[in-house]
Amino acid sequence: QVLEGRDISSLAKYIKSTGCKNVVLMLGAGVSTSAGIPDFRSPETGLYSNLARLNLPHPEAVFEISFFRKQPVPFYTLAHELYPGKFRPTITHSFIRLLAEKSLLHTCFTQNIDTLERRAGVPDDKIIEAHGSFAGQRCIECKQPYDDEKMKEHIFSMKIAKCEHCGGYVKPDIVFFGEELPEKFIRAIPNLRSADLLIIMGTSLTVYPFASLAQRVDESCPRVLINLDHVGDIGSRADDIVLLGKCDDVVKDLCVELGWEDELIKLWNE
Ligand code: OAD
Repeated sequence: QVLEGRDISSLAKYIKSTGCKNVVLMLGAGVSTSAGIPDFRSPETGLYSNLARLNLPHPEAVFEISFFRKQPVPFYTLAHELYPGKFRPTITHSFIRLLAEKSLLHTCFTQNIDTLERRAGVPDDKIIEAHGSFAGQRCIECKQPYDDEKMKEHIFSMKIAKCEHCGGYVKPDIVFFGEELPEKFIRAIPNLRSADLLIIMGTSLTVYPFASLAQRVDESCPRVLINLDHVGDIGSRADDIVLLGKCDDVVKDLCVELGWEDELIKLWNE
């Protein structure tokens, strides 16, 4: 075992030790809720419990390609609400940038499509957007890419964009249920073998294959869960740490232990 205990101060000591060089992160919607973006599965506030107005057969249908082909309006309604640009990165995003500045960040796997990691200044080459993002878009039929500006206009005015070649519906490159994850994600999976520390934040660990990344680090690699509730099998290995709470609060406490508090606040205020 590499940790002295299962608490924040043992974690801070480990992060500062020479044995901890490569930190890998797994992120979910919970890291962005304090920015004002709802998560998916929280009972009262999550998107899936607030989609009744979109008349869906079931909440996840909004992200199903077969449903989108028949009814693109619900997704465009949601895209209009979630479109990146209106939201500011959180303290947790600044912590990720700080890890990068300390040369500790190996890979940041994120399920989020809000691009707040990039906006917080985390280097692009460290980020793997496993469920895609709004950065590009294409026709769902002939896969022809579609212009960025035109897409933005369509989402802002909530008009469905149609392919200029075949007339098929256009959708941002967000991974829907029933679609493959990006090649970049598949290629980065072996990175988990190099991890000296895995930090999992703000995810229910219910969507696969993303959730399975937590099993791919070595048995000797400590895994930390920072989340409102206890999810997945974190806690089942000897060096697992479970820190329940809001991720911004836990991250701040951790930075106090690390002596990084001032740097964190400075980055966040940038
Ligand atoms: P979920 O909504 O499933 O889970 C969010 C988790 O974050 C829950 O366990 C919450 O309790 C926790 N949480 C919320 N706010 C928090 C906070 N401030 N601090 C700490 N924890 C907090 O979201 P994901 O796991 O990201 O897929 O969902 C995975 C995928 O399901 C998404 O990428 C999306 C969705 O369908 C696609 O869009 C393709």
